[in-house]
Amino acid sequence: MRRPLVAGNWKMHGTTASVSELIKGLRLLALPGGVDVAVMPPCLYISQAIAGLAGKNVAVGAQDCAVEPMQGALTGEIAASQLADAGCRYVLVGHSERRLLLGEGDGVISRKFAAAQSCGLIPVLCVGETREQYEAGETVAVVMRQIGAVIEALGVGAFAKAVIAYEPVWAIGTGLTATPKQAQQVHGAIRAQLAAENAVVAEGVRILYGGSVKAASAAELFGMPDIDGGLIGGASLNADEFGAICRAAGS
Ligand code: 13P
Repeated sequence: MRRPLVAGNWKMHGTTASVSELIKGLRLLALPGGVDVAVMPPCLYISQAIAGLAGKNVAVGAQDCAVEPMQGALTGEIAASQLADAGCRYVLVGHSERRLLLGEGDGVISRKFAAAQSCGLIPVLCVGETREQYEAGETVAVVMRQIGAVIEALGVGAFAKAVIAYEPVWAIGTGLTATPKQAQQVHGAIRAQLAAENAVVAEGVRILYGGSVKAASAAELFGMPDIDGGLIGGASLNADEFGAICRAAGS
């Protein structure tokens, strides 16, 4: 049985004051016991979140890391070892906003994935197709290519200590969600791709769905056999809504 994970990606949102409010709300949540919960604030607020969430069962992660694992001369970047030192448990790699707006390619993403793991962090590899690719019927091919690049660079064993997040680009921040059936089809294809290389790794890896997940849509998505939780954007900025999504993963 895979333990569900619900992670809140705060993206580039927050101020010292609003983060403090959000943490206050998170501390008050009744969270289900059988679910891993994490939040991913902007780097500036990671320490604030870790201090504020001390003693609460909410892990903290980052939204990105440098290609080099250790500290050094790399202006503007943050090393996975520094995130681990700060107390992070997870780090997103390959979010579509970084792939599309910042031109991050599969080579860079594989290096970040490896850097994270070498420092004991759990990489959350984000994959997903654009609207054009979706309309052209290329969804599964695109996602398999993105995952295949990491398998090729690091071996399928790398997924023994990693999480995958399927996030169709057309569903991110748009209010459009893949139907549970559509999402399950992609999640099933991802698991089959990994199973072709290593059945044990495929069975164990958590595959999250992301893209306009709200409390109202979460339970049905999380009820699908290969959907092991969610990566939540906008709805994770509201503690009550986020808490309801976490509880949907526990039911
Ligand atoms: P939304 O939930 O705001 O659509 O964002 C999803 C996402 O990109 C999480 O990483």
